[in-house]
Amino acid sequence: MDPLVITLRFVHVVCGALWVGMFVFSSFFLLPAIQEAGPEGGKVMAGIQRRGLMTVMPLLAIGALISGIWLYLRAAGGMPAEYGRSPVGLAYGLGGLAAIVAWILGMTVMRPSMLKSVALGQSLGPTASAEERQRVMGEVQRLRGRAAGSSRLTAGLLLFAVAAMAVARYL
Ligand code: HEM
Repeated sequence: MDPLVITLRFVHVVCGALWVGMFVFSSFFLLPAIQEAGPEGGKVMAGIQRRGLMTVMPLLAIGALISGIWLYLRAAGGMPAEYGRSPVGLAYGLGGLAAIVAWILGMTVMRPSMLKSVALGQSLGPTASAEERQRVMGEVQRLRGRAAGSSRLTAGLLLFAVAAMAVARYL
C-alpha cells in the first residue's frame, strides 16, 4: 500500500469525522440550548470561542476537503469527468460537493454571525442603560438565530456528504 494514500485516508477520515461530529452536535444541541438561555447563553458562547472552536472546526474541514479532493483526483486517474460518470465517482463527487458547499456556507454565514454575536454581547458594559441592553440583546438574538438557521442547512449537507462517502465504494 502506498504510504501517501494511507496518510491521506487517515487525515481525511479523522478530520471529516471530527468536523461532522462537532458540527452536528453544535447545530442540533449546543446552539439551540444557548439561544434558549438568552443573555446567559452569551457566556457559554464566549467560553467556547476562547477555546478556539471557531478556528479548530474550519481547520478540520480544510484537512478533510484537501485530502478528499486529492483522493478524488488520484482515484480518477487523470480523468475526473469520466470518473464522475461512474456510480462510485458520482457518489464521492456529489458527497464532496455537498461538503464543499457546507464549508463555504459555514465560513460566510454561520461563523461571522456567531463571532459578531459574541463581540456584541461583550460590548455591553455594566453601565449600559436598559434600552441599550435591550437593543443589543435583540441584535444578538437575531444573529444567533441566523447562525442556528444556517447551521441546520450546513449540517444537512454534511450528513448527506457522510452518507455518500459511507456507501460510495459499494455502488
Ligand atoms: C464532510 C466531509 C467528509 C467526510 C466526513 C468524508 C468521509 C469519508 C470517509 C469515511 C471515507 C472512507 C469511505 C470508505 O473507505 O469506504 C471517505 C472516502 C473518500 N472521500 Fe470523503 N469525506 C468528506 C469529504 C470529502 C470531499 C470534500 C471529497 C472530495 C471530492 C471526498 C472524497 C473522497 C474520496 C475520493 C474517497 C475515497 C478514498 C479512497 O479510498 O480512495 N470526501 N470519505
